[in-house]
Amino acid sequence: MHNMNTAQVRPTQLDLPAIQAFAAPDMAAVDALIRRRLASDVLLINQVSEYIISAGGKRLRPMLLLLAARALGYQGADAHQLAAVVEFIHTSTLLHDDVVDESELRRGRKTANAVWGNAASVLVGDFLYSRSFQLMVELESMPVQQILADTTNQIAEGEVLQLLHVRNPDTDEAAYLRVIERKTAILFAAATRLGALLAGADAATQQALHDYGLALGYAFQIADDVLDYASDAQTLGKNLGDDLAEGKMTLPLIHAMQHAGNATGKRLRQIVENGDVSALPEVIAAINAHDSLGYSRARAAEFAQRAEAALAALPDNEASAALRGLAHYALNREK
Ligand code: IPE
Ligand code: IPE
Ligand code: MG
Ligand code: MG
Repeated sequence: MHNMNTAQVRPTQLDLPAIQAFAAPDMAAVDALIRRRLASDVLLINQVSEYIISAGGKRLRPMLLLLAARALGYQGADAHQLAAVVEFIHTSTLLHDDVVDESELRRGRKTANAVWGNAASVLVGDFLYSRSFQLMVELESMPVQQILADTTNQIAEGEVLQLLHVRNPDTDEAAYLRVIERKTAILFAAATRLGALLAGADAATQQALHDYGLALGYAFQIADDVLDYASDAQTLGKNLGDDLAEGKMTLPLIHAMQHAGNATGKRLRQIVENGDVSALPEVIAAINAHDSLGYSRARAAEFAQRAEAALAALPDNEASAALRGLAHYALNREK
């Protein structure tokens, strides 16, 4: 008998709890693998790496890799290992980033550099970087190695490029976008492209997943740069004003400077040149006066839409609905 009720509701977009529930079995396997493969017989390495890994983090990049693979019908287990590789790379960049940014709070805890000092953080970051490559080569896939070699190289370029703009009040939106593409978006793109590659997707589909990850990464970093001015340390697990303290020209500040009048503009330049975090209230006032957070959120939303559009040709299933949901999550997240 023909029964209309058996018609499946078309999954469009999942919210974060639903995405996490769907990904939970895979993510548990990734987490177990991460912990197993962190081990070193050098005690300090275990201490520092356990410390930052066990503090949690959203595990967004490994989740993206798994969801991309699953969305394209992948059934195997290599994805867990590759997801761990991507999270190791991410974690190593955080250890390095907190040294460079002189940050004191990460994932709701004192940063590793605040606890063990800069040298230990940089060196354990290097350990995680190279451990990620050990895990990667075990998979014996030249295309995977090529993507990750290029990706890590571009992340390093992004970080150095950012350094060149520090305390430079003339940094504009285009320069900012060039930085965040490399320091953040490229790793998102690699995660989703690798998922497609594992699933045996054709070149066009791999490219679509790359485009999705790249746009999502832009949205994610712009949202992060908004949160640096608009959240609170308790919720965010990081201190506010870190970007200003570093003299980092992020989108909210760039927008405020471009729209400020002469006097305020001059004052903002001075604050950036000195990385004067005590002037945070002044900067926030300027940012609010020009709705620079609203502008930044709108730019992030454009990238999130671009990300979602890149998924148009994907089969409709729970994993692809999760990927669509993450485009919205990147914008609306609180941490
Ligand atoms: C922090 O990334 C660095 C940025 C690219 C903004 P996440 O916000 O994904 O950090 P965790 O892993 O969840 O702590
Ligand atoms: C992201 O930039 C840095 C990396 C890609 C490692 P941020 O400096 O804004 O990241 P948070 O805010 O410290 O996490
Ligand atoms: Mg930082
Ligand atoms: Mg930040």
